[in-house]
Amino acid sequence: MTHSIALNFEDGVTRFVEARAGETVADAAYRLGINIPLDCRDGACGTCKCRVESGSYDGGSYIEDALTDEEAASGLALACQARPKTDMVVAIPAASTACKTRPQSFETVLRRVERLSDTSLAFMLDRPAGLAFLPGQYVNLRVPGTEQRRSYSFSSAPGADALSFLVRDIPAGLMSGWLRAAQPGTAMEFTGPAGSFYLRDVTRPLLFLAGGTGLAPFMSMLGRLVETGCDHPVRLVYGVTHDADLVGLAQLDAYVAALPGFSYVTTVAAEGSTHPRRGYVTAHVEAGWLNGGEVDVYLCGPPPMVDAVRGWLAAQGVTPNAFHYEKFSPSGPAEAGRLAA
Ligand SMILES: Cc1cc2nc3c(=O)[nH]c(=O)nc-3n(C[C@H](O)[C@H](O)[C@H](O)COP(=O)(O)OP(=O)(O)OC[C@H]3O[C@@H](n4cnc5c(N)ncnc54)[C@H](O)[C@@H]3O)c2cc1C
Ligand code: FES
Repeated sequence: MTHSIALNFEDGVTRFVEARAGETVADAAYRLGINIPLDCRDGACGTCKCRVESGSYDGGSYIEDALTDEEAASGLALACQARPKTDMVVAIPAASTACKTRPQSFETVLRRVERLSDTSLAFMLDRPAGLAFLPGQYVNLRVPGTEQRRSYSFSSAPGADALSFLVRDIPAGLMSGWLRAAQPGTAMEFTGPAGSFYLRDVTRPLLFLAGGTGLAPFMSMLGRLVETGCDHPVRLVYGVTHDADLVGLAQLDAYVAALPGFSYVTTVAAEGSTHPRRGYVTAHVEAGWLNGGEVDVYLCGPPPMVDAVRGWLAAQGVTPNAFHYEKFSPSGPAEAGRLAA
């Protein structure tokens, strides 16, 4: 019996390794040429300390100097000692290059492009063999015929047989323009998966705040929650600028039907919209949803929206148990973050 371990490096790169029965996290990684920082390999030095984001494991034997009881209780583990009992997600406090690895590259084929509205497109890719990802992560896709890359978050769940993406159609945009004329069957290439904005173990209510196509990673997370089931309330506030930006509602309704405890509201910011709810997402978060801080908040959208919502949350006087966000920056490296109490 093997267990899948997602190793997340400090630079946002994720690599998946399969741990054989009884194998430690470090040994499973080494077998694939991924050199997690190690020194003693014996639970004595603490060099291999890492954070277990999800999954259960046998922590092995070690001395207090290497890992204190408090550290172990807070989710830290020693990669040279920890043996997975289930699939795991492990944050490694080093860059992927320092561990002699890098993002994987995948070749695939465009299945189709769908126009969802005047401002939004969806596209689907064949799922390449060997690809695994966490719900909420993204890939860096090469714009065919160029050397330019654009980042897109999966909107499909990790278990789906095809990959789907939700894209804002930017009139002068390079990838947007390519997608408008794209032919099914075109060869595509991407690197990834990447990003620290992914769904953690669900142990309390969730509040999802999406701006525009920032809905995409939540679609993937909701798909995962439908697969696994969820015992906690999951609330989504989905805000857009114009009526035409509001897409994916049929899929959200399907998630409402499939996932007890999930509900969502939409809001449109533009003056002149006839939508029943108006304004920014923050105007539609009910006070009780913050649950006195016993809530994990996930936030994704364009940078100004993310900054505004972060400021609003800070002003509420409630510190959520965990706060994860991702900015869909127009270009350059992704900015994701995690603020936890
Ligand atoms: C981690 C990450 C994940 C992302 N995931 C998604 C996703 O799932 N869906 C998605 O739609 N986008 C996503 N983005 C943004 C995406 O990578 C591209 O930047 C975007 O699709 C524009 O690409 P383009 O080639 O069409 O336009 P470009 O050729 O890059 O831009 C053309 C012009 O439009 C401007 N521009 C770019 N974006 C916008 C905008 N939103 N509004 C107004 N003007 C803009 C640019 O500054 C430039 O002047 C993500 C970005 C990051 C960093
Ligand atoms: S390498 Fe020394 S404790 Fe793991």
